Amino acid sequence: MALQTEHDFLITGSHDEANRQAYAAALRMHVLSGIGDGLKDVYDHRVEPAFEKANSRTPKDGREAMKAMLDDSYGKTWSSMIHTCQEMVWDSVRPAIERAQPEFNEKIRGLNAQYGSLSLDAEVEVPRYVTASDIHLMPGNYHTERDTDDASQGALFDRGLYIYQGGFAGPLCDNNGRSQAEVIKRRWPEFAPTKILDLGCTVGNNTLPYADVFPDSELHAIDVAAPCLRYGHARAEALEAPCHFHQMNAENTSFEEESFDLVVSCILFHETSRASMENILKESHRLLKPGGLMLHMEAPRTEGLDPYEQFRLDWDTYYNNEPFFSAWMRTDVQEVCTRVGFDRDKYIHIAAPDLGTVSDEEFTRYAKTDNVGANGQGHWGEMVMWNMYGAWK
Ligand SMILES: C[S@@+](CC[C@H](N)C(=O)[O-])C[C@H]1O[C@@H](n2cnc3c(N)ncnc32)[C@H](O)[C@@H]1O
Repeated sequence: MALQTEHDFLITGSHDEANRQAYAAALRMHVLSGIGDGLKDVYDHRVEPAFEKANSRTPKDGREAMKAMLDDSYGKTWSSMIHTCQEMVWDSVRPAIERAQPEFNEKIRGLNAQYGSLSLDAEVEVPRYVTASDIHLMPGNYHTERDTDDASQGALFDRGLYIYQGGFAGPLCDNNGRSQAEVIKRRWPEFAPTKILDLGCTVGNNTLPYADVFPDSELHAIDVAAPCLRYGHARAEALEAPCHFHQMNAENTSFEEESFDLVVSCILFHETSRASMENILKESHRLLKPGGLMLHMEAPRTEGLDPYEQFRLDWDTYYNNEPFFSAWMRTDVQEVCTRVGFDRDKYIHIAAPDLGTVSDEEFTRYAKTDNVGANGQGHWGEMVMWNMYGAWK
């Protein structure tokens, strides 16, 4: 695994802890892909035929496929192992962060910001769809504070995400944001946003690429979780990236209307309730200047996928504490965007590969192509494609 970029606030722990983290990452990847790759064969040759024999038909959707797969010993073992690996990721990262307290919080409190800013608002209520469960099984989730000015959950997310992804999102864990920003720049080269807003930024790993890609713009990022914002601000300062972090609810921000040219998010909507998703799209519309662009990076839709593929995508909803994942993947985003005020014909659904997985030339070609199939899928062969949903105002 490539090393995560060090900065003044990253907590990796001792030599032995870093090794344990690398082991958790490698084991998780092996279970996810190595053992996980065997699931399809098991489904095709054992689970689906048995289901068909018992019911005189094949599974009709992802739920039926999931139930049948998790009744099978291979599927059940895989599911249990990947869930345990997820817990191991956090367990491997947590001790060093706990040990660093309270000096770590003190260091962040004493930060002398030179590039950006942080505004927290204790009046912002963290919504129940965030507080109700530890999303991705991360102990304490994004928002928990155990001490005054606590930033621990931000440190836990930064290191934990890197271990969870096995380093595949790059040394700064920012491939998603960097890919999305580059798609915007290469697809619409004449579009030059002067003010950019990222919604649900967590620690800003996928926010900061916008400062590189659009260096003349003013970059803002919001989240409801104070510990992540404290850490994200400190991280941005350490990386010398200009970004203004605010504690706000994306459903109802305190920015004036028509404040931004570009409103983005990265994997936010699968963690918000259906009603809040609609509110956030409506707020995005309010915040955009006329001619501005909204673009949200998210998971692909399940529409057009077969029951087995739906089972793979739905698994996280049930076993990784991502309760709104399935609902998001079945939402007609164009319909919701139209309802909240965007023109139907200005709707955008595009997909692009991860910047690191193809050559620069190929990436530009993908970025400029309408590559979402008739079934609503942003896949390109076997390649992982990030889906982006949005609209021009
Ligand atoms: C999956 S994380 C997003 C990660 C981040 N954008 C990234 O790319 O790494 C979802 C984040 O959205 C935040 N969030 C959820 N609902 C929100 C809301 N209504 N307003 C602002 N932030 C929200 C959560 O606190 C969490 O930090």
